[in-house]
Amino acid sequence: MGAINTLAELQTKVNEKTVRVGVVGLGYVGLPLALGFARKGFRTTGFDIDPAKVEKLRRGETYIGHIAGALIAEEVEKARFQPSADYARLGEMDAIIICVPTPLNEHRDPDLSYIRNTAEAISAHLRPGQLIVLESTTYPGTTDEVVLPILERSGLRCPLSSYATDGRTLEFSEAVGGDFLLAFSPEREDPGNKQFQTHQIPKVIGGVNGASALAARALYDQVFERTLLVSSARAAEMTKLLENIYRCVNIALVNELKLLCLRMGIDIWEVIEAAKTKPFGFTAFYPGPGLGGHCIPIDPFYLTWKAREYEFPTRFIELAGEINSAMPEHVVASLADALNRRKQCLQEARILLLGVAYKKDIDDLRESPSLRIMELLRLRGARVDYHDPYFPRLPKTRRYDFGLASVELTAQTLAQFDAIVIATDHSSYDYGFIVRHARLVLDTRNATRRVTEFREKIVRC
Ligand SMILES: NC(=O)c1ccc[n+]([C@@H]2O[C@H](COP(=O)([O-])OP(=O)(O)OC[C@H]3O[C@@H](n4cnc5c(N)ncnc54)[C@H](O)[C@@H]3O)[C@@H](O)[C@H]2O)c1
Repeated sequence: MGAINTLAELQTKVNEKTVRVGVVGLGYVGLPLALGFARKGFRTTGFDIDPAKVEKLRRGETYIGHIAGALIAEEVEKARFQPSADYARLGEMDAIIICVPTPLNEHRDPDLSYIRNTAEAISAHLRPGQLIVLESTTYPGTTDEVVLPILERSGLRCPLSSYATDGRTLEFSEAVGGDFLLAFSPEREDPGNKQFQTHQIPKVIGGVNGASALAARALYDQVFERTLLVSSARAAEMTKLLENIYRCVNIALVNELKLLCLRMGIDIWEVIEAAKTKPFGFTAFYPGPGLGGHCIPIDPFYLTWKAREYEFPTRFIELAGEINSAMPEHVVASLADALNRRKQCLQEARILLLGVAYKKDIDDLRESPSLRIMELLRLRGARVDYHDPYFPRLPKTRRYDFGLASVELTAQTLAQFDAIVIATDHSSYDYGFIVRHARLVLDTRNATRRVTEFREKIVRC
């Protein structure tokens, strides 16, 4: 099949809404995306290797707090969303979007095994005319150097070819393509963000060649309010990393300034609020107990790893990583000092940690600094419990297995603990109540800022 035909055929199917969309990896990113296509009337198949998830979705149930089961049930009922664990059905799809995890391995190097496995599964069923888009966050070069060769093992070709773009389109002569189409489009999901829904966040797209870029744009234009073409898959991969590195470095900056402000007796949160009034040139970032989530603590190190190939040290990333990952130690040291001032010690102290999710109002504890704080407290001999409205039990993670259940948050329980550590500032907490009944409160998020009574019990750190 000629390149132009491949593109034109896909564009026609998209316009006629007959394009079959497959989304591989139904997690925080893939599930809302698949539902987004389904709700626009596209027959969408969601693939996941976890049969329990597939079964739940088929029953119209959710496993992600902020995605309503009713929404899933509606799309399943209308047969617009079909969850499946059967890779053989990949061949039925016209477009396949990959949203699988990209963690770091035990040496903190990129673990591309999920992407490789998915690409191999697709390759086994690849047919001419299909569009494949990678969305998983990764280092620049993954689409060209890792995914493309695996897909080409099918015998089909997708030539790497440069093109220029003004963000919206490109010269027709540059719409080079091949047997299939391949692009990268970074996910910008922010779980729990009530201000922006997935379709409102502009979608950046870079193709392995011009035809791939145009095909992916045609598809995403159906669901996203705004799409933006960049001139390669690499540029799109780097865009996502720039966004996350920017956050990681700026959070490290305020974390470091917080440590200085604490010594100088200056309130960093007051300073940030004041600086925020500048109408240009300043974006507020907030200090906390450390970085969490699947993206910001991990993604920057994908670039660090790739930069080694170019003998280029990514010093900002390394420094930010050092500062941010030391924050849980700072929390524990501050708690030890606060207890010491009360002639108590951490060993044997009963500590209640509030919030295990990595940020407020979500049910995600990946890379949560709360878990590291719990580990450090236990290492120092403290007896640790937790409360989190989103986690009745603390699930086993790759690194931790505390075997704990969330304690009830009553006046009586609060008073039993030597100290309460606010690690995650969930909106549902009544901070006035917590401070009133606690003996000592260590606040890592400035969550108690509006509490007026018993402020002498509060230590901000
Ligand atoms: N969570 C976020 O806020 C966010 C934001 C932007 C980008 N990202 C990126 O998006 C990607 C996915 O992240 P996530 O948060 O959705 O992960 P997740 O862990 O929530 O979901 C991944 C899903 O993929 C499934 N899976 C794993 N291997 C598979 C395979 N071979 N075939 C089919 N399914 C498979 C898992 O069972 C899981 O359901 C990552 O690269 C991440 O960095 C995440």
